[in-house]
Amino acid sequence: MGIIREVTIGDCRLILGDCLKVMPLLGKFDAVVTDPPYGINYNPTRSQSSASSGKRKNQSKVIGDSKPFDPSPLFVMAPKFIIWGANNFSNKIEGCSGWLAWDKRDSGTLFRGFMASDFELAASNVTGRTHVISHKWCGHLRQSERDLYVHPTQKPVAVISWCLDFLNKQDFILDPFMGSGTTGVACVKLGRKFTGIELDPDYFDIACERIRKAYEQPDMFVAPPEKPVEPKQEAML
Ligand SMILES: C[S@@+](CC[C@H](N)C(=O)[O-])C[C@H]1O[C@@H](n2cnc3c(N)ncnc32)[C@H](O)[C@@H]1O
Repeated sequence: MGIIREVTIGDCRLILGDCLKVMPLLGKFDAVVTDPPYGINYNPTRSQSSASSGKRKNQSKVIGDSKPFDPSPLFVMAPKFIIWGANNFSNKIEGCSGWLAWDKRDSGTLFRGFMASDFELAASNVTGRTHVISHKWCGHLRQSERDLYVHPTQKPVAVISWCLDFLNKQDFILDPFMGSGTTGVACVKLGRKFTGIELDPDYFDIACERIRKAYEQPDMFVAPPEKPVEPKQEAML
C-alpha cells in the first residue's frame, strides 16, 4: 500500500507510508531535504542515557538502518538536494557539489558525546563550497530543544533551518524520511511549502503534532511575510 494516511496542516502535506511506494505517486518538488536511515545499524540504547529520554520511543532503532541506503530514488523527485548522513553512502551520491557540516560539539570544552560523532555531514548540489554550523547537541548538552527528546536521530530545527537558507524562498520541499518532522517545523518557521513522508506511525503522529504546534506558536525565528514594496510618495507626483 502507498499512502496509508494523509494530513494537511497549513502548507504542509504529511503522509504516513513507505516513501519508496509513495514518491512515485507525487509530483515533482524543487528540493529534497532529508535525513534518511544511514545504513549504519545505529543503536540508540548504547549512545543515549535512559535518563535523558522523556519517551522510550526515542531509544528505538531507526527503520531501514540495518541495510545499506540507496539514495537514487531521491534524485528523480527534485533537481536540488541536501542529504544528511551522506558521508555513509557518498559513492552513491550523484552530482554532489558541496558539503554542509554541523559541528555538534560543546565548543567551550570541545566535549565529545559518548559514542556520538563530532559532526554530521550533508551532501548537496546547492553550493559549490563547504559550509559549517556549530550547534551543541551531545546527550544532555543541547543548545536548543532541551526538553524535546522524541526521535533517536532527531536534528535541531536550527540546523535544518540553516540548510534551508541555501535554497530559494519559494522552493517546495520534500522530506521522504520525515522522522519527528524537524524539516517540516523548519519549513513552517521559514514559510516554505513542505511534503513529508514517514513510515513509523508513532513518529508520524509526533511530526503532525510538532508541525501543528509550529503554526500555533510562531516564535522569533519565524520570518515575517514579505511585504510588497510600497511605491514612494515622490515617485507618484
Ligand atoms: C534518520 S531518521 C529522520 C529523523 C529526523 N531528521 C528527525 O529530526 O526526527 C529517518 C526516518 O526515516 C523513517 N523511514 C525509514 N524508512 C522509511 C521509508 N521507506 N519510508 C518512510 N520513512 C522511512 C524512519 O522511521 C525514521 O524515522
